[in-house]
Amino acid sequence: MPSVLFVCLGNICRSPMAEGIFRHLVAEAGLDDTLKIDSAGNSAMHEGEAPNPRAISVMREHGIDITGQRSRPLTSQDFDDFDLILCMDEGNIKRLDRVEPENHNATVDLFLNHVNGTREDVPDPYYGHISDYNATYARLYPALQALLEKLR
Ligand code: 4NP
Repeated sequence: MPSVLFVCLGNICRSPMAEGIFRHLVAEAGLDDTLKIDSAGNSAMHEGEAPNPRAISVMREHGIDITGQRSRPLTSQDFDDFDLILCMDEGNIKRLDRVEPENHNATVDLFLNHVNGTREDVPDPYYGHISDYNATYARLYPALQALLEKLR
C-alpha cells in the first residue's frame, strides 16, 4: 500500500479531517499496519496547534477523535517520504513549489481529481460556520472510502 499525505493550507481543518477519516476507514478495514498516513500544511502559521475546535467537534459527532493531531508545515523531505501527496485545493498545489524538490518520485494531485476525476476543490471552511465543517466531512468521507478502494 502506498503512503499518503493530505495537504491543505493551515493543517488545522481539511487535511486533519481527511487524515482522521482515512485512518478510521483504514483501521476498520484492518489495514492500519500497512499504510502510512499523515497531513501537513502549505504554511507554518498554525504549526504545533491542534485541529480547529469546529473540526474536532464535527469529527467527534462521527465518532472520530482528532484531538491528538498537531499542525505541521509541508517539507521537501515529504516528497521522498510519501508516495501520494493529495492537495485539498488548487491553491495548495500552486504553493507546493515553495518546498517541492526538482526531482522526486511522489505523485502529487488534487485530492478529488485523484479519487474520482473531478477537478474540484474541497472548499476551505475556516472562515465559514459549523455547517461548512459538516459539508467538509460529507465531501471527504465518500471520497476517502473511494480512495481506500482504489489503493487496496
Ligand atoms: P485548512 O483551513 O487549510 O483547511 O486548515 C485554514 C486554516 C487556517 C487558515 C486558512 C485555512 N488561516 O488563514 O489561518
